[in-house]
Amino acid sequence: MTSQTPEAVHPVRTHHLRQAKERGERITMLTAYDAMVAQIFDQAGTDVLLVGDSLSNVVLGRPDTLAVTLDEMIHHARAVVAATRRALVVTDLPFGSYEASPEQAMASAVRLIKESGTRAVKLEGGRRVAAQVELLTSSGIPVMGHLGFTPQSEHAFGGKRVQGRGPEAADALCDDAMALQEAGVFAVVIEMVPASLAQRVTEILDVPTIGIGAGPYCDGQVLVWQDMAGLGDWSPRFAKRYADLRGALDGAVRRYTDEVRRGTFPGPEHSFAE
Ligand code: KIV
Repeated sequence: MTSQTPEAVHPVRTHHLRQAKERGERITMLTAYDAMVAQIFDQAGTDVLLVGDSLSNVVLGRPDTLAVTLDEMIHHARAVVAATRRALVVTDLPFGSYEASPEQAMASAVRLIKESGTRAVKLEGGRRVAAQVELLTSSGIPVMGHLGFTPQSEHAFGGKRVQGRGPEAADALCDDAMALQEAGVFAVVIEMVPASLAQRVTEILDVPTIGIGAGPYCDGQVLVWQDMAGLGDWSPRFAKRYADLRGALDGAVRRYTDEVRRGTFPGPEHSFAE
């Protein structure tokens, strides 16, 4: 999808993503967790900003995504929404906030939307959450699905492992994707599956697929922004580092520390006259 000039901002809506798939235009999506980064990505023309539950490990320093709470997701989503003009903001329903029943999912999604202003929610799983998706979408809440390696099930999977290998697992993933589409999702994230399986899912679905570690055949791509920009000390094999923010920040903080210690910062140009 192509972005607009700042004077004519047309917010990205869920139907634009469907149209992009129909036209063969790739959808761009990145995570964002705060206002400053959201503003940069929005102004650069990113179509979808995901307030991912990766907030838990990437920003809050926890070992996995499971610990993050609905209150914490709301807090960060509110900041992203406040800084975003064009992109569609989607926020993850965190682990424990939707699995028990459609009613639990509804209560959590309503809080997320009312208290943060997010336009859509994302949840993980296929047929096992189809009833949740159905209640949300029939109530007017746009839902994005998430299949393949779903981080909230990391411990059930036995670690960060590629999913959907072998004919049975591949068929099961396709059945999950169809169930999500029938329940009304507007798009599906597919994480860490073989590229050929992501291609098959993309071909059978009318709604767009957004890949992460799922090869080049999806209708769009998403990355955790710190992996994309090289801020972490590690990034997964499927993530390309488009910058070395870690190196840049390290250099800046070392120069700052050195200048403060030597007394060369602040200089006269950074000081106020009487
Ligand atoms: O929470 C997240 O960052 C995600 C992406 C990996 C898709 O769900």
